[in-house]
Amino acid sequence: MTRKEPSDTVDQAVKPSGPIGRVMGFLMGRMNSAQNRVTVRALEIPDGASILEIGFGPGRGLAQIAAETKAAQIDGIDHSALMVDTARRHNRAAIKSGRMSIAEDDIGHLKAANNTYDICFAVNNFQQWPYQAQGIAEMERVLKPGGRACLSIRVPKRDTGIETVQHTRKTVSCADDLLEKAGFRDIETIEHDLGQRFAVLIIGTKP
Ligand SMILES: C[S@@+](CC[C@H](N)C(=O)[O-])C[C@H]1O[C@@H](n2cnc3c(N)ncnc32)[C@H](O)[C@@H]1O
Repeated sequence: MTRKEPSDTVDQAVKPSGPIGRVMGFLMGRMNSAQNRVTVRALEIPDGASILEIGFGPGRGLAQIAAETKAAQIDGIDHSALMVDTARRHNRAAIKSGRMSIAEDDIGHLKAANNTYDICFAVNNFQQWPYQAQGIAEMERVLKPGGRACLSIRVPKRDTGIETVQHTRKTVSCADDLLEKAGFRDIETIEHDLGQRFAVLIIGTKP
């Protein structure tokens, strides 16, 4: 059997670690900034809201929420210890003020209590979860009734070396199906044109 090296590009995007993971985190911050921006803005985060971001990578989306909104509590989880450290460095002031908390955790079994958040969202990682239905069930569990879940997925306009239009479109439709199966209502899909790609947001409300 051939053992996969942890430096493999795909593995590093799924769980960045070590020196190559640092580079990957830097690239995520650069490449995904527009998608994080449109996602956070589309959420129209109300004053006083409590937010959970899943798989924040270098933590730029969390920083944007802290800077642009009056959310009361901004939490983030990521299963990569390296990304937790990186995001903590980028968000020192918000963490020190007590408004933000960043922790190592996995979408498959979140440590958060039931009915905690008004909004729970994930940018560019639903496609990586090994147990997507379980992940959506966890989002539903930690959301308050009336809370919103959002999955933001990058869809290229043309096939690239790392992703195809067909596969990413399939991922979008899978996200939509799973939100519906988990009982979310008023599910909507919003597409933002980001030049060479779309940011596709699937948003549903917990009854
Ligand atoms: C491609 S990066 C995207 C990072 C950031 N959201 C962005 O758009 O730049 C995926 C992130 O999700 C995290 N991730 C992947 N699977 C996860 C899981 N099962 N539980 C928690 N975090 C996960 C990875 O560690 C990584 O930081």
